[in-house]
Amino acid sequence: MPIVKVCFTPALYPLYAARESITVVVDILRATSAICTAFEHGIEAVIPVSEIEDTFFYKGDENCLLAAERGGSIVEGFAYGNSPKDYMKPEIRGKTLVITTTNGTQAIEAAADSDLILIGSFLNISALSEALSQLQMDTMILCAGWKNRFNLEDTLFAGALTRRLLDNGFSYALDSDAAMASVAIYQAAGSNFYDFLEESSHRKRLAALNLEEDVRFCLTPDYTRCLPYMDGPIMRNARNVAELESIVASRLAQPEINALKK
Ligand code: MLT
Repeated sequence: MPIVKVCFTPALYPLYAARESITVVVDILRATSAICTAFEHGIEAVIPVSEIEDTFFYKGDENCLLAAERGGSIVEGFAYGNSPKDYMKPEIRGKTLVITTTNGTQAIEAAADSDLILIGSFLNISALSEALSQLQMDTMILCAGWKNRFNLEDTLFAGALTRRLLDNGFSYALDSDAAMASVAIYQAAGSNFYDFLEESSHRKRLAALNLEEDVRFCLTPDYTRCLPYMDGPIMRNARNVAELESIVASRLAQPEINALKK
């Protein structure tokens, strides 16, 4: 039986990382939600980078859109930030998005040694949970948090996804208090996530920037069926679970994905 684990911040990732396992990176407000929105609206690929300077290499490439966010705001000089609304425009179709954000892209980098990194958000929660349920591999949900601190919205999502996986053949690990706590938070939240997050730090931070509509949007389930995954330094959208299965199989240099199933 595969296990599901939750890691509350990228700083804790080395304590939870395991071989032959999938990592789902989550930054509900707003990086992974913006990325899922971009794929839904036709972006071809995403290159997540840690530092603002890392985007400069792509300057002048007309196929690339450069995006940078720090502290919730668009970095001066950039046309794109981290609002899902930025990625609902027809002009993004077929382009490559090069993006750096305060926490989300750092979390992706922290998990770089995973066998497979998937991108999770409420916007793609059903497609993602169905894919993971089919893959039946050990899975870690890595919350981006805020500057390596715990946050409520990523943990809420981790609980929602963990609950679905537990209902589909997964079990807790032995040292699974973080996953259990996430499920408890998800169950305590009830059906109104927006109200539940009222006092949370990043909801307040985004409210101060007049970005409450972004918060509401990022809490919307199933806006898209996209399945973003990391292919080396580039993120692509998997067409289906079979594509993910063959990627995992080739990464682990095993001919049959079934050999990985628990
Ligand atoms: C991040 O990566 O820290 C966030 O997505 C911040 C934000 O833009 O709201």
